[in-house]
Amino acid sequence: MEGKASVVMMGLGYIGLPTAALIAQNKTHVHGVDINPEVVETINKGKIHIIEPELDNAVAAAVSEGYLKAAITPVEANTYLIVVPTPFKDKNEPDISFVEAATKAILPLLKKGDLYIIESTSPIGTTEKMMDLIYSKRPELKDELFIAYCPERVLPGNVMYELVHNDRVIGGVNEESTERAVEFYANFIKGELHKTNARTAEMCKLVENSSRDVQIAFANELSLICDKAGINVWELINLANKHPRVNILQPGCGVGGHCIAVDPYFIVADYPMESQIIGKAREINNYKSFWCAEKVKTAKLEFELKNGRKPGIALMGLAFKPNIDDLRESPAKYIVQKVLQDANNEEYYIVEPNIKSHRVFKLTDYKEAAKKADIIVFLVKHKEFIELDINGESKKILDFAGIKNV
Ligand SMILES: NC(=O)c1ccc[n+]([C@@H]2O[C@H](COP(=O)([O-])OP(=O)(O)OC[C@H]3O[C@@H](n4cnc5c(N)ncnc54)[C@H](O)[C@@H]3O)[C@@H](O)[C@H]2O)c1
Repeated sequence: MEGKASVVMMGLGYIGLPTAALIAQNKTHVHGVDINPEVVETINKGKIHIIEPELDNAVAAAVSEGYLKAAITPVEANTYLIVVPTPFKDKNEPDISFVEAATKAILPLLKKGDLYIIESTSPIGTTEKMMDLIYSKRPELKDELFIAYCPERVLPGNVMYELVHNDRVIGGVNEESTERAVEFYANFIKGELHKTNARTAEMCKLVENSSRDVQIAFANELSLICDKAGINVWELINLANKHPRVNILQPGCGVGGHCIAVDPYFIVADYPMESQIIGKAREINNYKSFWCAEKVKTAKLEFELKNGRKPGIALMGLAFKPNIDDLRESPAKYIVQKVLQDANNEEYYIVEPNIKSHRVFKLTDYKEAAKKADIIVFLVKHKEFIELDINGESKKILDFAGIKNV
């Protein structure tokens, strides 16, 4: 395998591993790199460390056929893909240190004619920054590499399909780079490949998620108004959406995940004066989670006043959206944490049907939790919860997920 790799994939997480498996399925040798030795070990056994339908078979086949191998260090290849995390720091500023570290790791391996692509969601100008970094350390390669940005827009849970069928936006630092990157992706992508420049491609990804965030913020704002006005927000939105040109999204207990709750900050951090709506949407969606936690606290005090005893409270869901095991930036997890901080001898049943255990929370089976609790708080619209038969009219239900409005 050493020396035989055509592609080096830096980062083997939710995006990097499925992409590596897809490229390997096309009989291209992929050398996957991850700094986490457990990830590397798992993949080399033909197994996976994340939940994603069909990924297990794809990885098992790619590894057993010899097209995918994982390691903690890169080897020489023709194409290098950077698919490492881009979280944000304390002050909601983007952290591109992982992209930088991954780029530095491949720096000594680069040679004339190689293709370098960043897929990690990145602030505007990151690709040019990495180009400058590469050429400052390897001046002999100046203008001899093809450098591009190509964001990923797959939906967790449907990644293996969407990786192939979604349209992609591909932006090079110059036209030749765009062309080379398009040629590369055309080998395994059936969706349309849209050419642009690196900065536009970077911003495109950020705007897609900011647009979703702003629209959800509108629905969440409506939910706050409706709560005060005594109107069922789900019914309201359903009726408003009967208008042929209105399409309001559904409210929830906030906005989470690795993308929508993070990417807008990448714009706000660099353009604070200009991005008023984008920044406000982040505030509203964060406030919605805080508001939900306050509602739970009020419900428990009301219960105690009325019944003269502490309630049992079921907190239903920890994931950032329905039917997945991903808890990153999860508003449900935040709410559970907030509620538990205020715990005062109530019985709590924390439920997440998509994970077996959690290092902080003791998990309870969802049916048992719903049966035992006096107050049931729906935080995520998991399919198990929709099907749940709650018999016990005396139970107080706080439905922040729209479970009863399928
Ligand atoms: N998960 C999604 O649905 C999604 C969708 C679109 C875009 N993205 C973007 O894709 C990028 C990757 O996201 P992800 O969800 O795959 O992240 P992830 O955390 O699941 O995986 C990233 C992997 O990179 C590894 N890593 C960190 N530094 C490294 C380095 N220097 N060299 C090699 N490996 C390194 C980590 O150990 C980890 O396994 C992020 O920028 C994210 O915003 C994610």
